[in-house]
Amino acid sequence: MDFWVAGFLVLTAGILLRPWLWFRLRESKKKDGGDEHEEKKKKGMIPKGSLGWPLIGETLNFIACGYSSRPVTFMEKRKSSYGKVFKTNIIGTPIIVSTDAEVNKVVLQNHGNIFVPAYPKSITELLGENSILSINGPHQKRLHTLISAFLRSPHLKDRITRDIETSVCLTLASWAQLPLVHVQDEIKKMTFEILVRVLMSTAPGEDMDILKLEFEEFIKGLICIPIKFPGTRLYKSLKAKERLIKMVKKVVEERQVAAGTTASPANDVMDVLLRDVSDGGDSEKQSQPSDFVSGKIVEMMIPGEETMPTAMTLAVKFLSDNPVALAKLVEENMEMKRRKLESGEVYSWTDYMSLSFTQNVINETLRMANIINGVWRKALKDVEIKGYLIPKGWGVLASFIAVHMDEDIYENPYQFDPWRWDRINGSANSSICFTPFGGGQRLCPGLELSKLEIAIFLHHLVTRYSWTAEEDEIVSFPTVKMKRRLPIRVAMVDIL
Ligand code: HEM
Ligand SMILES: *[C@@H]1O[C@H](CO)[C@@H](O)[C@H](O)[C@H]1NC(C)=O
Ligand SMILES: *[C@@H]1O[C@H](CO)[C@@H](O)[C@H](O)[C@H]1NC(C)=O
Ligand SMILES: *[C@@H]1O[C@H](CO)[C@@H](O)[C@H](O)[C@H]1NC(C)=O
Repeated sequence: MDFWVAGFLVLTAGILLRPWLWFRLRESKKKDGGDEHEEKKKKGMIPKGSLGWPLIGETLNFIACGYSSRPVTFMEKRKSSYGKVFKTNIIGTPIIVSTDAEVNKVVLQNHGNIFVPAYPKSITELLGENSILSINGPHQKRLHTLISAFLRSPHLKDRITRDIETSVCLTLASWAQLPLVHVQDEIKKMTFEILVRVLMSTAPGEDMDILKLEFEEFIKGLICIPIKFPGTRLYKSLKAKERLIKMVKKVVEERQVAAGTTASPANDVMDVLLRDVSDGGDSEKQSQPSDFVSGKIVEMMIPGEETMPTAMTLAVKFLSDNPVALAKLVEENMEMKRRKLESGEVYSWTDYMSLSFTQNVINETLRMANIINGVWRKALKDVEIKGYLIPKGWGVLASFIAVHMDEDIYENPYQFDPWRWDRINGSANSSICFTPFGGGQRLCPGLELSKLEIAIFLHHLVTRYSWTAEEDEIVSFPTVKMKRRLPIRVAMVDIL
């Protein structure tokens, strides 16, 4: 692979990291296009669009828009020329882009398992073949059901609410001591701790710090040139993964020894997986349950690790820029805080979720943040959706950002307007026009946990502290981030 192509690979891997899919360069070279597709075009069913230059296609334009303040421009331009579903070519892979909520829904539902995820090579290498993110079919379904059921269970939410409160309160107290806080960095420590707690109940301390260091080393390789020999990024990341798995495996083995208390409900994802293995599970897991479980735990750190802190950081950003919305949020949360102080009760997770304006703020943050801007799939056979043909072997990008920023669906889409969710009010459309957590077969199992975590964070932030944010802007390339890591000054307030 020459250097120039490798450069592209690295750049584009960045864009594709969030949707976690990557069409392998090699595969697309093999395909090399031509006749089959020409023939189908004659039937006039493949969506219109331009395939751009050979190999590069429209990649440069795609990247340029990603760097701009309005990454959705790439979609919007093509949508106005070719319609809501169009074809393009990103690094030599012909791809159908959908900005249509109904088409996206069909792709997400994936009846008949026509669409499979396919990731950049570096990501597949790091995830391994059996990770929940890369498998498809009954194994994915089983694991997904198991993990979703646990993460949504009142038992976990009850338990984790206390842990989240503790982490949030300690974190915020430390911010008030600092002259300047870079929210994007600081928040990550907190969310990682909570994530590890959900997965394996590790308490903050030395083990947690080592886990965090190794994990950071591990994920550095997600965007890299997929070459594996000593010294390369990928190699180092794989080594870090080995060490991580070893650490986790030790915990698994301790747990296996202590087993016997299976009557009580599972306390973390590790419990859930261990019990599934001992209940029979899949035969593949039977031989080496501790390897299987520790691998799954490490892989599950990936999808929650960056999305969560980004959502919280952007919530702080949007609220800093919208004092009227912030004032309303403070009012609603102070009202609950007063009630709680008077009655002397502790907060339950349902208290946090019952604040309707806070929920509006969370929805509006997720709509505008577009942390995962869409999902990338590959069609295993020809499929027709709403009259559009998606040929076998082509990629499909179900663009969430294009729907979230569509002015026909959301009035003034660039305005942070939490009140719009009162008007939307769970209407039939909202479930297909609002998909920050994806949907259908792979709907994010962390959905409810994420909302709870953000709600707890916002509650303690706005009822105890005030802050002023320095100028900063959101960039969307390669992933959604604050350009200056969102510097703020935090002060404690005594309102009550
Ligand atoms: C605001 C935070 C989050 C956002 C925006 C988010 C978004 C998403 C999206 C869009 C998907 C679907 C990907 C696809 O269809 O290919 C997904 C999948 C997933 N998420 Fe999340 N996520 C968040 C937090 C979390 C957390 C905290 C966890 C873990 C506790 C988590 C665990 C997962 C897992 C395991 C999957 C894969 C499910 C499967 O393929 O069956 N996510 N997430
Ligand atoms: C937020 O979005 C979800 C998912 O579409 C929806 O069910 C919920 O009603 C929305 N929340 C509010 C407060 O509108
Ligand atoms: C929203 O829906 C609920 C029931 O689903 C209803 O009670 C409420 O009045 C509605 N609010 C608005 C503003 O339409
Ligand atoms: C529902 O969404 C479609 C676009 O997907 C739009 O044309 C239609 O007007 C929406 N309906 C309502 C009631 O908002």
